[in-house]
Amino acid sequence: MSLTLGCPRRQVLGGLLGAACVGLGCGRRGEELVESAAPACGPTPSPGEPGWWEIPLSDHPELLEVGGQAAVSKPEAFLELLVAQPSEGCYLALWRICSHGSCDVAWEDEAQAAVCPCHGSMFDEDGAVLVGPATEPLRSFPVGRVGDSLWVYREV
Ligand code: FES
Repeated sequence: MSLTLGCPRRQVLGGLLGAACVGLGCGRRGEELVESAAPACGPTPSPGEPGWWEIPLSDHPELLEVGGQAAVSKPEAFLELLVAQPSEGCYLALWRICSHGSCDVAWEDEAQAAVCPCHGSMFDEDGAVLVGPATEPLRSFPVGRVGDSLWVYREV
């Protein structure tokens, strides 16, 4: 058994909201299989607490699959999101509208990036620009699964 402390930044940031990623393992890292009691990706949501918004998986069954993604609108929270599950039990939620213009980005597993179809900008799982012409990041939101729903955090 080996443990990793190499959690993606989003997971560490999520930890600030209550998750315990460091020291618990974060699933697969490269070819190394990391054992852990349960996936510790992203924050531990607090359903019902202010700022946590529900995304029922029954509304977006594509998010049940590893590699699945969905465009998710939560107008009550002013959210237009790209939500994806790039690895088992690990979700990301990025602002869906490209910072370079008004095109919707989509997650590409091969590139491990959100890619804009209009001019080719690419963003990492935290929304940081990998390839321009975009110069501004996409906002990233903490997201995690509880039961049959994902919960995304945006302060109220
Ligand atoms: S609108 Fe996305 S790269 Fe131009």
